[in-house]
Amino acid sequence: MELGVNIDHIATIRNARGTLYPDLVNAAQIAIDAGADFITIHLREDRRHIKDKDLYDLKSGIQVRLNLEIAATKEMLDIAKEIKPYSICIVPEKREELTTEGGLCINSMRDKLLNIVEEMHNHNVKVSLFIDPDFEQLKYLKELELKPDIIELHTGNYCNNPSETNFKLIIDSAQCINALAIECHAGHGITYEHAKKVRQVPYISALNIGHYLISEAVLHGLYSAVKVMKTIITN
Ligand code: PXP
Repeated sequence: MELGVNIDHIATIRNARGTLYPDLVNAAQIAIDAGADFITIHLREDRRHIKDKDLYDLKSGIQVRLNLEIAATKEMLDIAKEIKPYSICIVPEKREELTTEGGLCINSMRDKLLNIVEEMHNHNVKVSLFIDPDFEQLKYLKELELKPDIIELHTGNYCNNPSETNFKLIIDSAQCINALAIECHAGHGITYEHAKKVRQVPYISALNIGHYLISEAVLHGLYSAVKVMKTIITN
């Protein structure tokens, strides 16, 4: 199973002060050195964390795959065509939400999604769709004439309520996605505890994890940062 590290919240910390640090390429490289297989970022319409310049810096600054999460808008698709990340992940986006709150409704976006898959394939960019582990969405996915390369299953509900029923939904969805010969990824809200369980799901080949990893990084890194500062001011 591969690990995609989402570094949006490194940008959140940077933007809190409008500084140049923490540097995103540096952060991505640390994640890669630690074993991240690819790097994920979400360019939001309001640019609340990742900025346009970050895309260029990361595209040229890292040697692993870049997965760009975007809403299905013309603005974002034009940017994706210019940047040409390894993959784009289409997510629903509401301006006022704190984070992506759920998966796409494939049926209501059917024509748009078909166009996106075709257009992105023409630009050599793989397409991932973020959907809930929900049989209705899987049914619509089965009916799509042109399939995305990847489906990312939204694990948010499972992580908020890790019941056996919710876990089974993820297992069954992953199996169904595999049967359609589509690569299955999963993400949202995953902690170490959730990861121990989700890694057992057959057919999920990658996890996308952000907020928890950055939170852990702050806690683990704070000790050494304070040590360095204390040494500077006392020696
Ligand atoms: N996958 C998708 C599609 C997302 O939108 C996000 C959040 O940006 C994640 C995974 C990562 O979620 P988290 O930050 O909760 O680990």
